[in-house]
Amino acid sequence: MASAKAMGALALLVVMASLSSGTSAVGRQLKFNAKRGEFKILQVADMHFGDGKRTACLDVLPRQASSCSDLNTTSFVRRLILAEKPNLIVFTGDNIFGFDASDAVKSMNQAFGPAVNSGIPWAAVLGNHDQESTLSREGVMTHIVGMKNTLSQLNPGGAHVVDGFGNYNLEVHGAEFSRMENKSVLNLYMLDSGDYSTVPSIPGYGWIKPSQQLWFQHTSARLQKIYSTQPEGQKGAAPGLAYFHIPLPEHASFDPTNSTGVRQEGISSATVNSGFFTTLVAAGDVKAVFTGHDHLNDFCGELSGIHLCYAGGFGYHAYGKAGWSRRARVVVASLEKTQKGSWGTVKSIKTWKRLDDKKLSLIDSQVLWSKSSTNKQRIL
Ligand SMILES: *[C@@H]1O[C@H](CO)[C@@H](O)[C@H](O)[C@H]1NC(C)=O
Ligand SMILES: *[C@@H]1O[C@H](CO)[C@@H](O)[C@H](O)[C@H]1NC(C)=O
Ligand SMILES: *[C@@H]1O[C@H](CO)[C@@H](O)[C@H](O)[C@H]1NC(C)=O
Repeated sequence: MASAKAMGALALLVVMASLSSGTSAVGRQLKFNAKRGEFKILQVADMHFGDGKRTACLDVLPRQASSCSDLNTTSFVRRLILAEKPNLIVFTGDNIFGFDASDAVKSMNQAFGPAVNSGIPWAAVLGNHDQESTLSREGVMTHIVGMKNTLSQLNPGGAHVVDGFGNYNLEVHGAEFSRMENKSVLNLYMLDSGDYSTVPSIPGYGWIKPSQQLWFQHTSARLQKIYSTQPEGQKGAAPGLAYFHIPLPEHASFDPTNSTGVRQEGISSATVNSGFFTTLVAAGDVKAVFTGHDHLNDFCGELSGIHLCYAGGFGYHAYGKAGWSRRARVVVASLEKTQKGSWGTVKSIKTWKRLDDKKLSLIDSQVLWSKSSTNKQRIL
């Protein structure tokens, strides 16, 4: 019995190894800006897009209600892109609010429109509401993958051995003309955290399944091995960031004394712990996890060396809190200068949020990770 199980796991690993050795279908290689040595990611959580201008806003002030629709969500995306000029835009699920989108394709085309039209690469994962319109989860992700300027992928190599739709990684190379120009110095892991439990005895939301965790472990190990191989072998691992929709049970580990931002509602994770947080800690490269799902929470807190961050609610047709601005999270990774004066590997990762007010107010700026602090911790 045990050996049959072990053989099953081995077969899955072999399949995944052969899939991940293939080159990515995406032609555009993400890389750090050679001028400033930076890479900036704009996270848009929970747009909850419906039918555009016909779809009313939820939880806005009475005086705002009559002039507010999905188009306010669209204009917030546009303004943020102009203000932040990100290198990548990441949509972390509930991109469309299925029940109120009468045509999933039309709704997605409109929702992702500002990203598509900006010419900036973008990526999306699924939430728990994306499949409630006219397409299944597979159908929604398949449509996204076919859209312009997206780096989204269905699953590694289109494999059906991994649960969910849209588990993939993105590699960000070092600055052009630097010695790290052909190496990933920042790794992004995108995961489908599911919708609802399909196990009758377990109520509530979905979770990241063992097959996805195995895919993550395998991908992380592969990237860490490449990072440390000659001739440009680097010590340690390139920092990683994980993006998915539903928070982990560990998001409940914080209160205002040890987090930045607000917690105004409960943590709607799965009712069981899938162990993914432990898997992340053990892999060692991921420095921060970014989720959405709970629109009234926008905090970041650090547990076992990993920051768990919410982006805060973005969409106007999503529940929110009247008078509390819709918001988005920005992350910027910065390279260190080498002794020879060219760009090297990642030195620090910072984050802040932007509010949809007149000035796009910037709040809660904080450092998530820096190379020196890790070294210090190691010495201690
Ligand atoms: C929504 O957009 C309209 C048109 O630009 C604007 O007048 C209104 O103030 C916006 N509402 C909110 C809540 O931002
Ligand atoms: C990166 O790859 C390009 C194309 O193969 C090559 O011309 C360049 O020299 C490589 N850079 C480094 C630092 O190895
Ligand atoms: C945050 O502080 C609370 C008590 O103030 C404590 O219960 C909790 O364990 C702390 N969390 C972390 C991650 O340190």
